[in-house]
Amino acid sequence: MRVRSHSFSEFYKVRVRHVHLDIRPQFDRHELDCIAVLDIQRENSWPDAPVVLDTERLDVREVSASSDGSNFAPVSYELGQQDQVLGQPLVIKAPPPTIKLKIVYSTSPDASALQWLEPNQTASRTLPFLYTQSQAIHARSWIPIQDIPAVRLTFSAVVHAPPRMMALMSAGNNEQLTHDSPYHFRMEKPVPPYLIALAIGRLDFASTGYRTGVYAEPSLIHRAAYEFGDTEKMIETAERLFGLYRWGRYDLLVLPPSFPYGGMENPCLTFLTPTVITGDRSLVALIAHELAHSWSGNLVTNKNWDDFWLNEGFTTYIEHRIQEEIYGKDRVEVEQVLSRLSLDEEMSKLENRDQLLDTDLTDRDPDEAMTLVPYVKGALFLQTLEQTFGRARFDRFLRDYFDHFAFQSVTTAQAKQYIRDKLLNSATGRAAPVPVDEWLSEPGLPPSAPVVEARVLTSIQEAALRCAAGMPLPRQEAAGWDSHQWLYFLNELPADLTAAKMSQLDAEFGLSQSTNSEILARWLLMSVRNGYHAADPRIEEFLTSVGRLKYIKPIYEALVATPDGRTVAADIYDKTKSFYHPIARTAVEQVFSQALTTRDPERAVAHSLEHSAS
Ligand code: BES
Ligand code: ZN
Repeated sequence: MRVRSHSFSEFYKVRVRHVHLDIRPQFDRHELDCIAVLDIQRENSWPDAPVVLDTERLDVREVSASSDGSNFAPVSYELGQQDQVLGQPLVIKAPPPTIKLKIVYSTSPDASALQWLEPNQTASRTLPFLYTQSQAIHARSWIPIQDIPAVRLTFSAVVHAPPRMMALMSAGNNEQLTHDSPYHFRMEKPVPPYLIALAIGRLDFASTGYRTGVYAEPSLIHRAAYEFGDTEKMIETAERLFGLYRWGRYDLLVLPPSFPYGGMENPCLTFLTPTVITGDRSLVALIAHELAHSWSGNLVTNKNWDDFWLNEGFTTYIEHRIQEEIYGKDRVEVEQVLSRLSLDEEMSKLENRDQLLDTDLTDRDPDEAMTLVPYVKGALFLQTLEQTFGRARFDRFLRDYFDHFAFQSVTTAQAKQYIRDKLLNSATGRAAPVPVDEWLSEPGLPPSAPVVEARVLTSIQEAALRCAAGMPLPRQEAAGWDSHQWLYFLNELPADLTAAKMSQLDAEFGLSQSTNSEILARWLLMSVRNGYHAADPRIEEFLTSVGRLKYIKPIYEALVATPDGRTVAADIYDKTKSFYHPIARTAVEQVFSQALTTRDPERAVAHSLEHSAS
């Protein structure tokens, strides 16, 4: 089925303006029993158009319509054919003067947005946990909605949480509330559906500023509050640079370790992996990043997933600016060097179409097309504009961009036109032309792309060279390295190292025991690639206790590259599956099936036929 925009909804005919949800989680059945009430608004030229909503595996029991907002009568509806990626359209015949629709439904235990954790999969081990991940197109697996970022809506909800469990949503959570079910939520600003989020679990709260705080399982709350102590300072910095923070509170929610991402910018309540808690605030660039989405992404939103770089490129650029203000230029430069190295490594393996900023994801799952390109290449493009026009001018441009497009969803073409009007068509722009079309629509990076260097890394590069040449790394030399310097060192080592070298480094520096998740994940990846089997138990422990895709996907990829590794990976995956979020499961299963395709094309065809038949 060809659907250009990852949504069945014909939102230009009828638009959902608000959704009210009544949610009863059933932890024993892994289902949400819900009632959704949608406020709809018709465009005059389409008076008879049905309302088409996106759904995925929803069990729809009843649909009724109201023309006065309070009296509802049943209407006919139909669930269309199931598409692997997009789910099913729910087509509702609700002619004017309908203004509200009520849908009674339950989610599937296999809903792709929802992860239901058993008590023993949480830190407290006493109560279960539920959380959602709606980006990119998973909101439809728990809410029947026009699931496309071009549509913005407000929402409200009542959540009936079990005793002793707290419910949180991506809408100002009031820390003063006595936490008692049912919980009430209201998001007054129009947001795209992928920003609707819910979590229910045994949670504590700690305040970190007048509008900031953290929610976490009780055993983590103190460490979390320390780790994220700079959050208020980050907001003030971003406000100074790019205009007021428009969302009221900004809280963080530390999720169980199976959370598939580093962070997710749910409004008012960023969702976070616990793997950023290191004790030394070294990985808080992630907070700067998710906070930056309060401007780029949540305030000004990509209209389609093809325009994803508008969310992530702008955000990565702003993340760097916040980091620079708070932690200084040296630290940002190191972070930029590291992300550039990762981009180069990844881009060398990507097809041309995946190296573009202005992409076309028709017929593809947006999750599968996720790479560093929109992030790092996007940020480099903006850095180019900054360098061309000067910081003062570029900062003013960004502030204007956020004001001009506030609470709107925009396309790459619109952003490009705005850049042309405000920057490129000025005298400076004509004197120093930026190859905009090359940045947006050509693979790779333009030759004029900024090159980031970090002075503090020169000596580390030398250390890596010496180490590669067989010389030992003196303990004293590495004693003063922070975690980023270590990461850089590991990055600069040659791709293949002998087991003896790996073992020497490990013995000397305890890398297999690192408490910094970035270093550990990198080291374990190197261990697989170099057949350093002493790390095997640690690899298994890591893969069975962390579900963050950035870490586990490359390790699985390295494992499946050899027959022995493939067996090990399959065993680990089989017993860990239920611990991973459905999105992570899909991604890891993709790794297995791709390995099959590259090494045994015939078996892969048989395998895929088997699966499509079922
Ligand atoms: N919004 C993204 C996460 C995301 C992207 C989820 C696409 C689903 C589909 C989030 O802001 C993000 O970029 N997270 C990164 C953070 C990092 C780049 C600092 C992550 O999870 O690693
Ligand atoms: Zn992001």
